[in-house]
This record gives sequence, C-alpha cells and structure tokens, in this order.
Amino acid sequence: MNKSTAALSDQAKELRRIVEEYKQTSRKTGNLRTITILSGKGGVGKSNLSVNLACSLAEIGKKIILLDADLGLANVDMLCGVTAKYNLAHLIDGSKDLDEILVELARNVWILPGGSGIKELADLDEARLVALIESLGVLEDRADILLIDTGAGIHKGVLTFATAADTALLITTPEPTSIRDAYGVLKILKNSAEGGKRDIAFVVNMASSESEGLEVANRLRMAAAQFLNLSVNYMGYILKDHFVEQAVRIRKPFYQLYPDCPAAECVRNLVRALLGMPPGKAANTNPPRGLKAFFFRLRRGHFMKR
Ligand SMILES: Nc1ncnc2c1ncn2[C@@H]1O[C@H](COP(=O)(O)OP(=O)(O)O)[C@@H](O)[C@H]1O
Ligand SMILES: [Mg+2]
Repeated sequence: MNKSTAALSDQAKELRRIVEEYKQTSRKTGNLRTITILSGKGGVGKSNLSVNLACSLAEIGKKIILLDADLGLANVDMLCGVTAKYNLAHLIDGSKDLDEILVELARNVWILPGGSGIKELADLDEARLVALIESLGVLEDRADILLIDTGAGIHKGVLTFATAADTALLITTPEPTSIRDAYGVLKILKNSAEGGKRDIAFVVNMASSESEGLEVANRLRMAAAQFLNLSVNYMGYILKDHFVEQAVRIRKPFYQLYPDCPAAECVRNLVRALLGMPPGKAANTNPPRGLKAFFFRLRRGHFMKR
C-alpha cells in the first residue's frame, strides 16, 4: 500500500468510527437527562442542593444517579452520612463492578462516587472509555436523571462536565462575590464551543426572600444578555434556612429530615421548574441525550485534555 492509499484507508477507518460512535450515541435518545451543578464560588450550596434535589426528584418517582465529581473533597457522602468504599477509579481499573460502587442514599437515589476516577477519565484511551461506558450502560435503564455535583471554581474538569451535560445548572447566592463569579462562569461557558450551545440555567441559593432571588436573577440575566448575548433560565431560589444547617450537622438530607421546612418547599418548586423547563438551545440543536452521548462529549471536551 502506498502512502496516499494508506492515508485514505485511515480516513475511511476514522469515518467508520465516527459513524459507529454516532449510531451508539443516538440509539437511545431522551432516556437519561444529565444535569451538572456548578458554581463560580465554593460554599454556595451545590452539594446540599444536589443531594436534596435528588431526594425531591425521587419522591415523585424519578430515578436518580448522583455523580460526585468534586475533584477535591468528596463531600456528597459527608452530607448524607453514607461512606463510599469505592469509586469510579475502581470501575475503571476493573477491580469493582458498578453495583459494588453505587451507594444507595434513598429509595430511587444512588450515589456514584467519582473520587480519583474523575481525573482518570481524561486519560482513558478510546477502547477503555468504550468499555467504561459499556459498564455504566445499565445506569441508562436504571435512572432517569444523572445529577453531577462538581467542586468549586471553574477549572477545566468542571467545565467539561458542564458542557457535556444536557443542562448546566449554575448556583449563586445573593452575595456580590458569588454573583460576580457566577457571571465569570457564564462568560467561560459562552466562550467554550460546546458550552455556548447548551442549556444554561441558574438557581439563587440562600435567598432571604423570593424578591431577593428575583433581584439577583435579574442582575445576572441582564448582564448575561447585555454583555455575553447569552440567555440563561432562572429556575428559582432556595431560601436561607437554618434547618439546612441543622441537617448538615446531623449529616442527613434536609429534605428527608424536615420535609416541610422552607428550603424543602423551594426544592419542590425547583423540581417543577426543572421538569417543565422549556426546550432551550440544547433541545433546538438536538444533541443526542443519554449516558453514552454524555460520556463521549465529556471525552471530547478539550478542557479536560492537558
Ligand atoms: N439554603 C441554605 N440555607 C442555609 N444554609 C445553607 C443553604 N445552602 C447551603 N447552606 C450552608 O452552606 C454550606 C455549604 O454548602 P455546600 O453544599 O457544601 O456548598 P458547595 O458544595 O457549593 O461547596 C452548608 O454546610 C450549609 O450549612
Ligand atoms: Mg460541594
């Protein structure tokens, strides 16, 4: 085979691979929705919201996998009082299977601890990634929603998760520094090729009232529209509530401990808003949904590559 025939054959191979990938990613569409929870600043309530949102979604019959993708402190398990023995890294190295890694938090809610496996995702070659996705494939039948709790800040891993998901859900508090950092995240999302095309929504946590939530929302929405030409959906607010802090101390989700507390009521409203979310850009561009599509996008995310 001369050089140009070899190059053509490589191209054909590549094309076949892309077609195969497309077939795989588009076979199951609309089954599993992926939502990444992120923020600019730490300590704004991402992990709390992830856990309690999961509980509330489960209450209405949705099956949830909560991926703890915090690269620093894996705090989801700290919040709900369950300790995870194994994580994604064990699935990747083949020493454990999915059922040994998943931790049941409540009826219809399972935690998938990311641990050091999150970093390893970036280094997987194609074959190992496909194998991993195959082993995660059963989640597709088991869950309706994959919620991803990320660490603080806008480092590349977090952005990759945000841009690979169907919805990026940004959390801010009314604090000026938190709003400024949330705006910073929007700016970076806008400038990343994939991020500009995704549904971006946000929640105001620790609001003192509905009107404060709205006020913050208007500021963020206006700045995003005016300076970034970006439309972001305001999904609602969560009240600052001492029951949340109390539950954190007991290491149980406030939604389970105090189902009637103000924050729990707000979470229920958030669930309604999220499930009734109008089709945004992601729906218009119609990217394949589901777990495989998510992980392929994750892999393609150039932020994660060194
Ligand atoms: N709605 C709320 N009301 C009162 N306190 C809250 C609320 N949400 C979060 N907190 C407090 O903020 C702390 C940090 O929350 P956490 O979910 O760990 O933040 P993140 O994951 O963004 O770093 C919690 O320990 C809790 O005490
Ligand atoms: Mg956290």
